[in-house]
Amino acid sequence: MSSTQSFPSTFTWGVAAAAAQIEGGATADGKGESIWDRFARTPGAVHGGDTLDVACDHYHRYEEDFALMAKLGVKNYRLSIAWPRIVPDGDGQVNLAGLEFYERLIDSMAANGITPWVTLFHWDLPQALEDRGGWRTRATAEAFGRYAEIVVKALAGKVKNWITLNEIRCFTQLAYGFGLKAPGAKVDDATLNQIYHNALLAHGYGVRAVRTYGGEGARVGITDNSDVCIPVTETPADIAAAQAWYERKNEHLLGAICNGGYSEAYLKRCGDAAPKVALGDFDLISAPTDFLGLNLYTGPFVRAGQDGAPEEVSLPAAYPKADSPWLHWAPQVIYWGTRLPRDAYGVKSIYITENGCGYNDEPVVAGECNDLHRREFLRAHLRELERAIKDGVPVNGYFLWSFIDNFEWEDGYERRFGIVHVDFETQVRTPKLSALYYAKVMAENRVV
Ligand code: NOJ
Repeated sequence: MSSTQSFPSTFTWGVAAAAAQIEGGATADGKGESIWDRFARTPGAVHGGDTLDVACDHYHRYEEDFALMAKLGVKNYRLSIAWPRIVPDGDGQVNLAGLEFYERLIDSMAANGITPWVTLFHWDLPQALEDRGGWRTRATAEAFGRYAEIVVKALAGKVKNWITLNEIRCFTQLAYGFGLKAPGAKVDDATLNQIYHNALLAHGYGVRAVRTYGGEGARVGITDNSDVCIPVTETPADIAAAQAWYERKNEHLLGAICNGGYSEAYLKRCGDAAPKVALGDFDLISAPTDFLGLNLYTGPFVRAGQDGAPEEVSLPAAYPKADSPWLHWAPQVIYWGTRLPRDAYGVKSIYITENGCGYNDEPVVAGECNDLHRREFLRAHLRELERAIKDGVPVNGYFLWSFIDNFEWEDGYERRFGIVHVDFETQVRTPKLSALYYAKVMAENRVV
């Protein structure tokens, strides 16, 4: 594909964000408390003591935000629904005002010519469920199933693209294993393995909800943040090492979903800490889906060691990074992050549901927000997307993270991922240089 060639005419371009990160309205219209509302109030948990209370005030400003999206030519928007708005205590009474809010919001998207891609769970678990064990319990997966049915039934007429869960690793391992994300717990291995399993189960319930109540044309997938690596050289030996690394790192999550169960090797490695699996769990977990969503940001470099086994190459101090310290510059993550799951599991349709970068951007000066660094990041990643498609990797869409600067979890408002700048004092939105660039990419359907 030369630099002037277009992406396939059916390619989906979009932007993404998530309820907890942009909506604010933390107690509006009967919303219950989420684990992130609580976590943000724990001293030292979130940078600068920032909270989600107001965020981008999208709850009250969505019309303005969708008008701006339309102006930039955005045709697809990946949003999430806040579970505590719909079922404030997680598994009890339904809050109709919460459902009505999302009906209005999605109508406003439609009025602006924007197609919704709805994620059912993007980390904002109702605190009431956490108080009863949260993801440690199977009951939370079941409560998610019920919540998913309620949402899908209510919105089936307006929404056709559904994503069950966002990034299992982050709301399990980072949240209950390392304590970095809400609820900030540190559990033992057996509990963590069970938490992974309960999350897989929730995904299965989400798929079932869409199949049962989604109506004609409904499609469903998960958004996974697979551990992705990049072969140091694109030679058969390093590529084989990358493939082996990839399958091993993802065996308990995406691998289990795609392979219809846990591998013997995995269960052996877990030993006494292996998850308890009930009869029929994997019928649910591995029910066919329509696409795989992938959030791709970065990944380690891997090569074949002396015996051919994968070996990670450490990053030297001078290696370029974004301001988010975990985000080192590795555009090939787009190529290998989509090719490795295709090779490992035969995935037939992939949507990159997130890709972007976190910087402490400059303020707006004379109406302009100059984020040339993000423009460069984006362009380099889109080139790798072009390469993946040219090599036959079935990538059908790309959603940029994020539409606007927002609450970046434990980093608070310090790290900006938006292509639209938000002044959090005044709530004024200013498209950055990267937004104007991405608008051209979407309009021309090629890397400009
Ligand atoms: C992935 C998460 O889904 C999103 O919520 C987060 O803001 C971005 N990564 C950037 O860290």
